[in-house]
Amino acid sequence: MSNSSPSERYSTAQRALHWLSLLAITVAYVAIEIRGDMAKTHEWRPFVTQVHFWAGLSVLAMVIARIYLRWRRPTPAIVPALSPLAARLAGVTHVLIYAVLLVQPVLGMFAAAAGGKAIIVPLLGIALPALIGKSDALEDRFEEWHETLGELFYWVIGLHVAAALWHHFVRRDNTLRRMM
Ligand code: HEM
Ligand code: HEM
Repeated sequence: MSNSSPSERYSTAQRALHWLSLLAITVAYVAIEIRGDMAKTHEWRPFVTQVHFWAGLSVLAMVIARIYLRWRRPTPAIVPALSPLAARLAGVTHVLIYAVLLVQPVLGMFAAAAGGKAIIVPLLGIALPALIGKSDALEDRFEEWHETLGELFYWVIGLHVAAALWHHFVRRDNTLRRMM
């Protein structure tokens, strides 16, 4: 499918983490949407909530690894090269995405703790230590920030995907192949 040599692409770890993050983010969104449609008494509701928590926490773990890899390894060149303005816009968008992927799970952990919702370690059944004590006022605030950022992020991802498709099908450069 690709005619790029490995050195022209992101590293295997970077590519794997990019697509696994997409999967985990999708699971987090789908789980929270399903949960929203469930009755409060539904027997699967606590499980679906934990799926949201752990998908989100795995995004956090992966983004830390991704930022480290990004810092350690030069980014493979886009051919033909972008104009300085387009390159700057892409860079700003990527920094924004990394920032959301770091902040959103942390806001979620604060929202869960303030709401008295435990994050249960699968198989072990023990709860992670809560970041803060239960508080209705803080729960409202963190949930609001977490929800707003969650909704804004749809637009950022939409822009990112549109840019990737534009590179591949309109500009016909190697941007997408570098991530495949
Ligand atoms: C990238 C990761 C994440 C994304 C994209 C995300 C997204 C969302 C969205 C869109 C909602 C709002 C649902 C609504 O409209 O009612 C939500 C709710 C929530 N999320 Fe996350 N989330 C992430 C990670 C986490 C993590 C790691 C935790 C905690 C460990 C968490 C805890 C919560 C809580 C407590 C709620 C409120 C649920 C309720 O209504 O009771 N989230 N999340
Ligand atoms: C939740 C969804 C997604 C997130 C959070 C995300 C996140 C990111 C981030 C942070 C980068 C920057 C990598 C770096 O240089 O450090 C990136 C690069 C890239 N992503 Fe995504 N991505 C998502 C979905 C997609 C999808 C669906 C596509 C393809 C249609 C895609 C295609 C690309 C491409 C081609 C690059 C390389 C861009 C470049 O080096 O200029 N991404 N992505």
